[in-house]
Amino acid sequence: MTNKPPFQRPLRVGLVGTGIGSLHAAGIARMPQLATLAAICGLDAAAVNALATRYGVEKTTSRYEDLLSDPSLDVIDLCVPHDEHMPMAIAAARAGKHILIEKPLARTLEEADAILEAVQNAGVTLMMGHNQRYYAHHARAKALIDAGVIGKPYLIVASVHVHGQIDGFRRFLKHAGGGTLIDSGVHRFDLIRWIMGEVETVFAQTGRFLQMQMEGEDCAVVTLRFRSGAIGSFSCSWSAKGPAPEETLQIFGPYGSIYTEDHTRTLRLFTERPTPELEDVRQFVFPVDQAESIRRMLEAHFTHLQQGLPPPITGMDGRASLELSMASYRSAQTGQPVHLPLQGENQR
Ligand SMILES: NC(=O)c1ccc[n+]([C@@H]2O[C@H](COP(=O)([O-])OP(=O)(O)OC[C@H]3O[C@@H](n4cnc5c(N)ncnc54)[C@H](O)[C@@H]3O)[C@@H](O)[C@H]2O)c1
Repeated sequence: MTNKPPFQRPLRVGLVGTGIGSLHAAGIARMPQLATLAAICGLDAAAVNALATRYGVEKTTSRYEDLLSDPSLDVIDLCVPHDEHMPMAIAAARAGKHILIEKPLARTLEEADAILEAVQNAGVTLMMGHNQRYYAHHARAKALIDAGVIGKPYLIVASVHVHGQIDGFRRFLKHAGGGTLIDSGVHRFDLIRWIMGEVETVFAQTGRFLQMQMEGEDCAVVTLRFRSGAIGSFSCSWSAKGPAPEETLQIFGPYGSIYTEDHTRTLRLFTERPTPELEDVRQFVFPVDQAESIRRMLEAHFTHLQQGLPPPITGMDGRASLELSMASYRSAQTGQPVHLPLQGENQR
């Protein structure tokens, strides 16, 4: 037995997709000791070539198989529409590639389980792209709560209130698997679960009010009860017209509260138990934007992979946030509260 780490050189990454994939490319380019962007795959040749030129990537292709058959690639980074997640992830696992996959893990829990099974059978690593944990205001909120600064949280109020024309694959259920809840919602579900622990019961209402070009919901309201006994609410909308986007978390405990806002990258802390480093009421503003949160996420995942450690955000984490979206859909369809774990038929 050797205890040498599995990689003693930069990981060679094949990127698929040039939408949010362009921020993945930018992030990988900034960690040369850790990873090399070795190939880019996408259906839009102009976008692929532009990224390749910008980051000096030699290999470009529109055929995914070209990445899988390249023995020099260690990691496949999937930044593709949701209906491509399962087939591409399973094929990558079978080709022996480690996988980084954008959220949501898949369109349904059945698809998610098929990915997890293929990954386990192949003995590769699955890294989940929940980059919002790496916004500094979220990371600090988690650290403050874990340090007991507001006591054990009993209430969380979360929001995603944004607007803008929804187009591309997100218009269609067969491509996206749902509307705002499986997309923006799954990000916030991951944060909610990360901070508050596992959810026991979900009750949801969904609707479509402005984005009639979409098949899925553009608005949803979800209430949650956690296994800890804590409660929460989450309002998620792609049709929330307002002066600025609003993506927030508000967490209350017996000694105070924490408020985070993505648009201003702010954390506001109120605590009746100030420690020497913390004033009673404090406002922190952090310089971490979406691109930097993605870079930090990639860096954390690749560092763990290079050292042979489990990923900081696992496939099971991706499944758990997806399960909250699925439970919300089931509740909205049946008009009933839904208890987790989901049993039986898990298709929408
Ligand atoms: N973490 C975040 O903040 C964040 C933000 C946006 C999107 N996302 C997620 O990233 C993923 C992609 O979303 P997007 O907004 O970039 O989508 P997009 O439609 O902008 O881009 C999709 C990309 O996938 C490529 N593609 C599609 N099918 C392909 C195929 N068969 N072979 C090769 N390439 C293919 C397209 O050419 C395109 O480059 C989704 O899972 C989405 O939910 C995450």
